[in-house]
Amino acid sequence: MTRDFFVNHGVEKSWVSLIYFMDEIVSKKTTEYITSLVKRDDDTLEALEDYASKNMVPIVTKEVSRYIETLIHIIKPKKVLELGCAIGYSAILMAKSNKELKVTTIERDPKMAQVARENFKRYGYEDRIELIEGDALEELKNIKDEFDMVFIDAGKSHYNEFYSDIVSKIYPGGVILCDNVLYKGMIADDDLVKRRKKTIVKRMRNFLDIICEDEKLITSVIPIGDGMSLSYVKKEDD
Ligand SMILES: C[S@@+](CC[C@H](N)C(=O)[O-])C[C@H]1O[C@@H](n2cnc3c(N)ncnc32)[C@H](O)[C@@H]1O
Repeated sequence: MTRDFFVNHGVEKSWVSLIYFMDEIVSKKTTEYITSLVKRDDDTLEALEDYASKNMVPIVTKEVSRYIETLIHIIKPKKVLELGCAIGYSAILMAKSNKELKVTTIERDPKMAQVARENFKRYGYEDRIELIEGDALEELKNIKDEFDMVFIDAGKSHYNEFYSDIVSKIYPGGVILCDNVLYKGMIADDDLVKRRKKTIVKRMRNFLDIICEDEKLITSVIPIGDGMSLSYVKKEDD
């Protein structure tokens, strides 16, 4: 039964949204199915997934983790900048996927940063993952380095500001990957937007307009996890 069926039979829209909450981007069955296809035998990632689940730390979902892993193998970036490290799961995933890769990651929550540091040490990534503790809105201004991939997974209402700060730090031919761009279906569907999320939704839509219209980029929005955007930064001759 579709959402419209309930709405047309007089069920309050907010209740229908609740019933269909996790179905709004991709159906639960499809998500479960594509997640079940991720065959991985990796103690480090499993331990981190386990910790995140027990401690309610939001990390990328398993099918998204496989998508990122695949991208790292295709793009073969040497330097990745990540905004939003949490316990270091995605940073370790990326570093694990390419032994040449160095990751710089920014995290503003001191407790998360502490756990991430311990994880980088415990699993042997101290040399290849640099953690900057602070607010990305501030820290990005001090970063002079350039990167061939940027992964934005922090502060959903600030993607626009992050984008203005990072765009000059990406080599032509590089990519910008962003998580949560469809934010629980709310970005595409006004009926799902909760009042207190209106500002985030407005800002995220504006961000998507910017990256989809920017002539320097080729952007594709993918309905996986909470929605991801992948932007290629064009070279002069592209
Ligand atoms: C979804 S979690 C990151 C998950 C991580 N990328 C992973 O998949 O393993 C988002 C993190 O971004 C951090 N964060 C939010 N806003 C931030 C900001 N402005 N600067 C730095 N970190 C921020 C939060 O503290 C949180 O730990």
